[in-house]
Amino acid sequence: MREQLKNKQIMLAPLAGVSDVGFRLICEKYGADKTFTEMVSCNALYYDNKKTDDLLFISEREKNCNVQVFGRKLDVIEKVIKDKIEIMDNISEISFNMGCPVAKITKNGEGCQLMAEPKRVEEICKILRKSSKKKLNIKFRLGIDENNKNYLEIGKIAQDCGIDYVILHARTKEQFYSGKASWEDIKKLKENLSIPVIANGDIFSVEDFINIMEETLADGVMLARGAMGNPFLFREIKEYIKNGNYKKPSPKELIDQIIEQYELELLYKDEKLVITQMRKHVSAYLKGLENSSKIRDKINKLKNIDEVMDVLNNYKSMLKG
Ligand SMILES: Cc1cc2nc3c(=O)[nH]c(=O)nc-3n(C[C@H](O)[C@H](O)[C@H](O)COP(=O)(O)O)c2cc1C
Repeated sequence: MREQLKNKQIMLAPLAGVSDVGFRLICEKYGADKTFTEMVSCNALYYDNKKTDDLLFISEREKNCNVQVFGRKLDVIEKVIKDKIEIMDNISEISFNMGCPVAKITKNGEGCQLMAEPKRVEEICKILRKSSKKKLNIKFRLGIDENNKNYLEIGKIAQDCGIDYVILHARTKEQFYSGKASWEDIKKLKENLSIPVIANGDIFSVEDFINIMEETLADGVMLARGAMGNPFLFREIKEYIKNGNYKKPSPKELIDQIIEQYELELLYKDEKLVITQMRKHVSAYLKGLENSSKIRDKINKLKNIDEVMDVLNNYKSMLKG
């Protein structure tokens, strides 16, 4: 089995507010074969919204970062892909989001809501193919709810329109992030499509990775919450594939990793922004470490990078291992 795992793609999922430049670089360092920006609005790109344009930033150090977009208006998608995304010669792939369940997005008929309109899905896939020579994927869910699971139909549409591969998050829109992801449905999609299928949902450990691969026979995995605060999961999986065993990070290594992420983020963003954006990451990294809630609360109040580094270094010196 391990031999077969060597060809599987291990990707970092697009994660709003999380898959930023520093975190992507760290995941890449630990073996992520591909990373993605968070989902970026075609509409906002169309109107040249500066903050949204910034979300497309990819550092020259990144080797395989790609862009994820979302939208629904065909003319807007076409123009944005042609004028803004296709010309990015630092990316080789575009992902289109049809899986976001958040009301702010679905109320506009975007994200996962598109799955209720297979015709529109087809039109979007055709426009994407027509507008781009890059590798394209569609990321979607099982369907709107348990009684409307149409992922096989959506997958076939994507395949027929020339989309290169699909990513299935094996939950419905209604489930959001709760309940167990249905890996069985990923297996079904894999059996029904000839283009590659990437499995997503509930991969939190090397054991989950092995199990999902055995159960679904998918062509790769996308790690999401499992990588948040634990980019080491990429290293563990890669080590397992290579040697049949793996090592977990020590608490001190974890703190060093947080420090490295601050340093990377500071290369590209100003201090104030880094301090706020890193809070979410720090809280995920520290989860489960001794006395970590106190440290997290302290860091959440700090406004200066030197103070943050002092707290982290002091904490590190108190940790065992
Ligand atoms: C904080 C957060 C942000 C997310 N942002 C995106 C996004 O921008 N685009 C996307 O396709 N999925 C997004 N997702 C969904 C994940 O990519 C993934 O499909 C989902 O978390 C299921 O995988 P998991 O069970 O391994 O976490 C997000 C999920 C979380 C928790």
